[in-house]
Amino acid sequence: MRTHLCGEVSTKEIGSGIKLVGWTNKWRDHGGVVFIDLRDRSGLVQVVFSPEVDVEIHKAAHRIRNEFVIQVEGEVRERPEGTVNPSIATGQVEVVVKKLKVLNECKPLPFMVEDETDASESLRYKHRYLDLRRPTILQNIIIRHKAAKAFRNYLDSHGFLDIETPVLTKSTPEGARDYLVPSRTNPGHFFALPQSPQIFKQILMVSGLERYYQIVRCFRDEDLRADRQPEFTQVDMEMSFVKREDIMAIVEDMIEKVFNDAMGVEIAEPFKRLTYNDAMDRYGSDKPDLRFGLELKNVSDIIKDTSFKVFLDTLSTGGVVKGLNAKGLAEYSRKDLDDLTKEVQGFGAKGLAWMKVKKGIESPIAKFFPEETLKALIDVFEAEEGDLLLFVADRTDIVNDALSRLRNEMGKRLDLIKDGIYKFAWITDFPLFEWNEDEKRYEAMHHPFTSPMEEDMEKFLAADYIGAIHESHLQDIRAESYDLVLNGYEIGGGSIRIHKKDVQDRMFQLLNISREDADMKFGFLLEALEYGAPPHGGIALGLDRLVMIMAGAQSIRDVIAFPKTQKAACPLSNAPSKVDARQLKELSIKLDIVE
Ligand code: AMO
Ligand code: AMP
Repeated sequence: MRTHLCGEVSTKEIGSGIKLVGWTNKWRDHGGVVFIDLRDRSGLVQVVFSPEVDVEIHKAAHRIRNEFVIQVEGEVRERPEGTVNPSIATGQVEVVVKKLKVLNECKPLPFMVEDETDASESLRYKHRYLDLRRPTILQNIIIRHKAAKAFRNYLDSHGFLDIETPVLTKSTPEGARDYLVPSRTNPGHFFALPQSPQIFKQILMVSGLERYYQIVRCFRDEDLRADRQPEFTQVDMEMSFVKREDIMAIVEDMIEKVFNDAMGVEIAEPFKRLTYNDAMDRYGSDKPDLRFGLELKNVSDIIKDTSFKVFLDTLSTGGVVKGLNAKGLAEYSRKDLDDLTKEVQGFGAKGLAWMKVKKGIESPIAKFFPEETLKALIDVFEAEEGDLLLFVADRTDIVNDALSRLRNEMGKRLDLIKDGIYKFAWITDFPLFEWNEDEKRYEAMHHPFTSPMEEDMEKFLAADYIGAIHESHLQDIRAESYDLVLNGYEIGGGSIRIHKKDVQDRMFQLLNISREDADMKFGFLLEALEYGAPPHGGIALGLDRLVMIMAGAQSIRDVIAFPKTQKAACPLSNAPSKVDARQLKELSIKLDIVE
C-alpha cells in the first residue's frame, strides 16, 4: 500500500513520485492550502493539498480530521525557503498530493495524540491504543523490544537454554501475596500464579540443564508504586557449577552488551561493589543512587558530648544520629527549613535538626554544642561556608530510611542527578535473615533457598532456633546473595542456592517453618535436592525497571504496552470483572460479598 515510510522521506526523493499511508497527526489550513503531518511508526512527513494541483482533492482534504487513516500519492519537493522544519527528520521536504484515499475515519478523540498530555491515567489506559500512538511511549516500546532481543542474543550465545515453566503452579518463595486460580477439576483447590520461576529453575539444574534463562511474566499481589506492577517481567537465569563471582561477571558483561545493542550506550566503568552494611551506613539504603555524593555520616560518637536532649535521649535508647551536608544551601529561609522538616517527617522521622555554616554556625541548637563538637562536625562533613548540615536522630532503620529519601530529594534540588548517566552497583553480603517486626519473627531476606556465605556456614549450621527474639546471633549470618542496583533502583536480585538437604532443613528450622509446612509448599524441590543436585545459583533482572531507566521514563507503566492502574485494574479490558453464577458454581465457589 506504500512505497516509503513517512519518517524516511528525504531530499533523495525530491522530484520522485511516492505513495504513503498513515494517520493524520495534525491538520491545518494556511491561505487556502491544506497541510497534514502524516504519521506512521517511523515518524512524520508533511503532505500538502493545494487547489492549484487538484481542486477535488483539496476539497476532500477539508473533510479529513485528526487521526483519520489516509493513503496519499504525490511528488516529493523541497520545502520553500523559510518553511524548513529542523525539529523533524523529514523537515526539508514535503509531499504534494495528487491522489488521496481515506482508508478509515476516526471518532472525535478523548484526548490529543501528542507527548504533552494532561489526560488522566485512567482515560489514557481506557484508550491505550491511542496512548500508544504518542511518540515517547512508542519509543519506549521499541527500546524494550531491542533490550529483550539483546538479552536473548547474549544468553543464546553463552549456552543458556530458553525453557518455559508453568504459569498454573504452586506458591513460590518470594513472600508477596499470591494471585490464585481456582481449579474446576479439583474443587476447593487453587493454583497460584508464580511470583517467579524460582523453584522450577532450580529443578532444571537438578535435571542437568546447566544454563537456563527465560524472559518471563511474574505475578505478585502487592501494593503498587511507580516501579511495581502486579504482573511484571523478569530476565530470569540459573547456572550450575558456579560461584557468586561467575554469575556477577556474566551479568555485568551481558548488561554492557544490552546497553550497547539497544541504545548504543557504552558502559565503560566496572560495576561498583558495596556490601549491604556499607550501603546502609553511607547511603541509608540498599539501592543507593550513585550518580551523586551527599553521603550520610554517623555522628553519634561526636555529639555525645553535647547537651541537646533530643540527640542524647536517642543515643541512650540505642538509636543513632546521622546527617548529610546539603552543599551550598545555607541561604535556605526559616520557611524552607520548616517545609523540609515537614517533608522529612513524612518520611517517618520525628524531626530535622539543621545547622547553617556561615562565619560561625547558625542554628537554634548550636547553643547545646561545645565549640570542639561543632568543629568536629564541620570536619566530618567537610563543610565550607555556605553549607547546610541536616541531622536526624532515631532508631537506625528510621534514620536510614528518612535520610536516604532526604538524600534523593537534596540530590534533585541541587541538580546533581544528570540524565544519560548509568551508575551500576552490586550490593553483596546481605544478612541471611531479616526481622519482621509485625510478625515478631525472622524471615529469609532474599528467599529460603539462598545459601549462607561459606565463611558463615559453620555458624549457620551450629545455630539453633531461638524463638521470637530479635537482635540475636542470626543477625550476623550473611547470605551468598547479590542485588544489582542502577541509579537508585533495584533492577535485579539473586543468590547461590542451598543444594544440600541438611543445610536446607536447618534453614527451615531457623525460620521456624515446620517440616510439614515446608513439605506442603516446597516438598517437590526438597525431594529433588536429594537426587544429586549440583551447586547452582542465579539471578532475575526486572526487565520493566531496567527499560524504564534506559528509556528515561518516570514509571514502569510507560514501558509496558498494557499496564495496570494503581488499583491493579486494566481500564482497557475492564479486568478484573464479575463472572456469572454458572462459572462460580462449576468452580464450587460461593461469594461472601454484600452487593
Ligand atoms: P526478586 O524478588 O528480587 O528475586 O525479583 C527480581 C527482580 O524483579 C523486579 N521486580 C519487580 N518489578 C516490577 N514490579 C514488581 N512488582 C517487581 N517485583 C520484583 C526487581 C527485582 O530485583 N526468584 C528471585 C530471583 C533469584 O533468586 O534468582 C526473585 O524473584 O527488579
Ligand atoms: P524540639 O526541641 O522538639 O523543639 O526540637 C528542636 C529541633 O530538633 C527542631 O528543629 C526539630 O525539628 C529537631 N528534632 C526534633 N526531633 C528530632 C529528631 N528525632 N531528629 C532530628 N532532629 C529532631
